Amino acid sequence: MLNKLKEIEDSGINEINGSSSTAALEELRIKYLGKKGALTSILRQLGTLSSEERPKVGAAANVVRQKIEARIEQKLAELESLQLDLKLKTEKVDVTLPGCKKEIGHLHPLRSTENRMIEIFVSMGFDLVEGPEVESVYNNFDALNAPADHPSRDETDTFYISDSVVLRTQTSPVQIRAMQTRKPPIRIISPGKVYRCDSPDATHSPVFHQLEGLVIDKHITLGDLKGTLDLFAQSMFGEGTRTRLRPHNFPFTEPSVEVDFSCFACGGKGCKLCKGEGWIEMLGAGMVHPNVLAGCGIDPNEYTGFAFGVGIERTAMRKYNINDLRLFYENDVRFIGQF
Ligand code: PHE
Repeated sequence: MLNKLKEIEDSGINEINGSSSTAALEELRIKYLGKKGALTSILRQLGTLSSEERPKVGAAANVVRQKIEARIEQKLAELESLQLDLKLKTEKVDVTLPGCKKEIGHLHPLRSTENRMIEIFVSMGFDLVEGPEVESVYNNFDALNAPADHPSRDETDTFYISDSVVLRTQTSPVQIRAMQTRKPPIRIISPGKVYRCDSPDATHSPVFHQLEGLVIDKHITLGDLKGTLDLFAQSMFGEGTRTRLRPHNFPFTEPSVEVDFSCFACGGKGCKLCKGEGWIEMLGAGMVHPNVLAGCGIDPNEYTGFAFGVGIERTAMRKYNINDLRLFYENDVRFIGQF
């Protein structure tokens, strides 16, 4: 029996040494010292021993119990301190480290330019309306008084979906939609994407953005157009900015003008930015053609109006002195992060 006790002690100590968790230790405690444990079953057999042997074996069993108990306590303490070490190592907080700043994005320069343009015109009393990018040939060309042989209708200039449907080449068809659905006085702006068959370069893109404006009322004159664009120019580019109208031709306006703004860099004296001109070309505009009004059911003898279309890319390029359109679309954060 003493041999048996020695075996229990050896295997107990061995197993305890090899255990790696507090739960495993608890299982060993039950296995060796529990009510149905190995040591208890020896003690139960004490009655079968002679009165000489009984105290010896009893005492030896107690020693084994104490050794195993002591070893379990020791091992428990070891494991706990190991766990603590591990926790300290892995959960270490270095309070001297700077906090992790979340990078917060911001609006794309095209979007913020568009928003500013909208803000300026809305503050003058224009309604913001939207039109579809897939548009009828009728709204994009016919209703805008474009002759059947107008070069912009060409398949090399315009993306055709079918014979009668295109990707709009300008935001001007929204004028038609507004005049068909609203009664004068009409005052709307409409920003959005337009599409043309152009290969991308520094000043061309097959997709770009325009903002259309339309005003229809009694007694609207070219002076109203000029005044409106003056206010836009000053709000967008600064108090001293002046506008200049140059004769041009669009099928849907008569007279038609191209509008220059005085150079933002030199104020009109002539510099590198304006190539010595003092003026920078900004947009197309004009008085709504009587044919367009009549085609939308508005009497040209009673009402007149003006329209303008301004490129959003162009405005942003002028505002931020950007010389390559493609920068807007490449989404290089080194570029768009600057705005
Ligand atoms: N739609 C013209 C363009 O894309 C601009 C424009 C709009 C001109 C309104 C006159 C009136 O070039």
